[in-house]
Amino acid sequence: MKAAIGARVIELTRGDITHETTDAIVNAANSSLLGGGGVDGAIHRAGGPEILEACKQLRASTGTCPPGHAVITNAGRLACRYVIHAVGPVWHGGARGEAELLASAYRSSLRLADEHGLRSLAFPSISTGAYGYPEPAAADVALRTVRDHLMGETSITQVRFVLFAETTLATYRTALSALACGGPESGPSAS
Ligand code: APR
Repeated sequence: MKAAIGARVIELTRGDITHETTDAIVNAANSSLLGGGGVDGAIHRAGGPEILEACKQLRASTGTCPPGHAVITNAGRLACRYVIHAVGPVWHGGARGEAELLASAYRSSLRLADEHGLRSLAFPSISTGAYGYPEPAAADVALRTVRDHLMGETSITQVRFVLFAETTLATYRTALSALACGGPESGPSAS
């Protein structure tokens, strides 16, 4: 499924983000930047030790990465050029600023991509696995944040959400359709 925002596009696809060939892929990392399970584990396994080495150097120089923030490293053996490690919020019921922290994790990733002049970026569904963020609410935050960014000044022309489970893809499809059907002020026209 795709949604056009002017000449830019948001795409939804099911798959393994470690196979993506976009300029960068985004990792759903934790603040330690030292790897973990889920997509974090998959990226470090597929990308090899160079990525962890780069994360350790970043951690040594700038410390841990708080929720809502992101850092960028090389991509080791992966087909993409960069990995952006974004830390999403742990879900505590929704009253501890989780939505804003999740939006901030996406915005921080998009800004890092712009700082490096990247044109394409792939996101997983940040925070909806081990961190327990309900998928429908997370999908709405993710898609709105990306849409708003693509409606402004940016080098990015393509953002792809790479969703691991079919059910996650279905949830994002519903959220993107709702966003597209929100009238002209909503921006994207889904196809
Ligand atoms: N490609 C794309 N998406 C994936 C992949 C993959 N290879 N593997 C898992 N996912 C999906 C999950 O199905 C989920 O929808 O990524 C989404 C995010 O789940 P997690 O990886 O658990 O990330 P998150 O919920 O943000 O929790 C982060 O988990 O892995 C640890 O070190 C990580 O502590 C951090 C925490």
